[in-house]
Amino acid sequence: MDNNIDNLNTIASMYENKYRIYKEKYNTLKNKINSFKFTDNLIWRRAEKHFHPGHIDVSRVEQAIINAPSSYGLQPFKVLKITELTTKEKIKSACFNQSQITECHTLYIFCALRNLEERIEDFVKQTGFINKKKYMLEYIVNKSKVPDQVEWAKQQAYLALGFGLAAATEQKIASCPMEGFKPDELSKLLNLDNNLVPCVLFALGRKKDGYELEKRFRFKDIIESIN
Ligand SMILES: Cc1cc2nc3c(=O)[nH]c(=O)nc-3n(C[C@H](O)[C@H](O)[C@H](O)COP(=O)(O)O)c2cc1C
Repeated sequence: MDNNIDNLNTIASMYENKYRIYKEKYNTLKNKINSFKFTDNLIWRRAEKHFHPGHIDVSRVEQAIINAPSSYGLQPFKVLKITELTTKEKIKSACFNQSQITECHTLYIFCALRNLEERIEDFVKQTGFINKKKYMLEYIVNKSKVPDQVEWAKQQAYLALGFGLAAATEQKIASCPMEGFKPDELSKLLNLDNNLVPCVLFALGRKKDGYELEKRFRFKDIIESIN
C-alpha cells in the first residue's frame, strides 16, 4: 500500500513538473501574443467615416491619454469629453457636418492651454517639483511669445492623441482623429473658457465597415537609415 502511494506521489510530482514547464511556456506565449496586439491591430485601424451605434469602454483610452509623455511633464492641455447626442448635434455645423461627430459614441476635444504660467503654478502645486518651476518659466514662458507657446502646447496635446489612438487600436475600438472643424466657432458654441484652444478632435465608437487595403508610403520612403 505504502509502495503504491510512493509510486503515485512520484507520478504526481512528474506531472507537477510538466505542468510547471507548460504553464511557463503558456505564459511566455500569452505575453508575446499580448505584446503584439497593438502592432497586429494596426492593419485593422482606419480613420473611420462612420460608426456603428453601441457602447464602448473608453477607460483604457483615457488612461493612455493621461499617461502620455509631455515636455517637462507639464501636460499643457485639457481634453473635453462629449457623449450626449444633443451636444454633438449642437457642434456638428462647426465640424463641416462630418458624420463622425454624431455617429461616434464618445467625442473628445483636445484643447491646448493658453495660459502656461498658470499651468506651471498648478503643476508645482500638484507635484511639489518646485525646482522645475524656474526652468519651465525660463524655457517655456519667458523665451517664447504666446502664439508659439500655444503651438508648443498643441504639440503635447497631439502626442496624447497619439497615445489615445494607440490604446483604441489595441482594443479594437474604432476611431477617427479630426482637424476638420472651426476652432473659434466650436469654442463659441460650447462657451469655452478663453484659456482653452481646441486643436484636434478624437471620435471613438464601434466599427461599422470592414477594413480596406492599406494605402501607405513604402517603408523605405519613410524610414531612412543615415548611418
Ligand atoms: C491630425 C489629423 C486630422 C484628421 N482630420 C480628419 C477629419 O477632419 N476628418 C476625417 O474624416 N479624417 C480626418 N483625419 C483622418 C485622415 O484623413 C486619415 O488618417 C488618412 O486619410 C489616412 O487614412 P487612415 O488613417 O485610414 O489610414 C485626420 C487625421 C489626422 C492624423
